[in-house]
Amino acid sequence: MNERALVTGANKGIGFEIVRVLAKSGMEVILGARNRERGLKAVSELKKEGLEVELLEIDVSKSESIANAVSELEKKYDHLDVLVNNAGILHREEGLGSSTVLGVATPILRETFETNFFGLVDLTQRLVPLLKKSENGRIVNVSSILGSLDLAIEREAEGPSGTPFAYNASKAAVNAFTIHLAGALRADDIRVNSAHPGWVKTDMGTDAATLSIEEGAKTIVDLVLNDTESNSRFIHLGEELPW
Ligand SMILES: NC(=O)c1ccc[n+]([C@@H]2O[C@H](COP(=O)([O-])OP(=O)(O)OC[C@H]3O[C@@H](n4cnc5c(N)ncnc54)[C@H](OP(=O)(O)O)[C@@H]3O)[C@@H](O)[C@H]2O)c1
Repeated sequence: MNERALVTGANKGIGFEIVRVLAKSGMEVILGARNRERGLKAVSELKKEGLEVELLEIDVSKSESIANAVSELEKKYDHLDVLVNNAGILHREEGLGSSTVLGVATPILRETFETNFFGLVDLTQRLVPLLKKSENGRIVNVSSILGSLDLAIEREAEGPSGTPFAYNASKAAVNAFTIHLAGALRADDIRVNSAHPGWVKTDMGTDAATLSIEEGAKTIVDLVLNDTESNSRFIHLGEELPW
């Protein structure tokens, strides 16, 4: 039987590429998108390549949308093997290259955490029962090297850092969730890891980024398809990053 994966925020960027590669590998893939039109467009683009994927409408910043999406999955499926928590935002008022820690407005912090952290936690908690029914359950939380507290301490020692505070803090919180969740699910043999895709040429990463979207998806795809060992790790291209 083919394994089944859900990828959130998958109508474009790194998430879309993860769906493409997982579907090509023979997995049954559910493409999560918050906007139906954009989701359908992504599904039909893959269809042109001969890949059949299922659309799931899910806005991870809205608990009602998460609840509806999970109940749809529960009606349709008896288990889920892989959850890739990819959906994420870097608020437009927090560009890369400028520190926002002194001025970032609370609504921006809240909005960033709503998508990058609270929604991710809510969705994951609700999907754990379906994941527990898998024989090889795994969760990949798409984090960022900017969420590494160890590296933030190094940056801080060098002087003012030019990184966006709300985004970084939300990804540090995701990393904390990874560690706590991995511990909680160890007895159920569900592995949980954080992944840093690299600096990737997407709408978020901008054209100035160093990696192609294919390269950006690689860390996550490897964790899903090839890595049979890692648990409670923060990984970029097979290498461990400091927390
Ligand atoms: N690009 C980089 O250099 C980089 C580096 C490190 C980590 N990351 C992480 O990698 C992940 C993917 O980023 P990306 O570069 O591919 O960004 P992207 O091109 O901006 O794509 C983000 C995706 O997330 C979706 N999304 C945003 N808010 C959502 C919500 N509330 N509910 C559901 N989906 C939502 C977007 O949907 P819409 O199209 O509807 O907006 C889009 O599909 C993110 O978690 C990001 O933080 C990226």
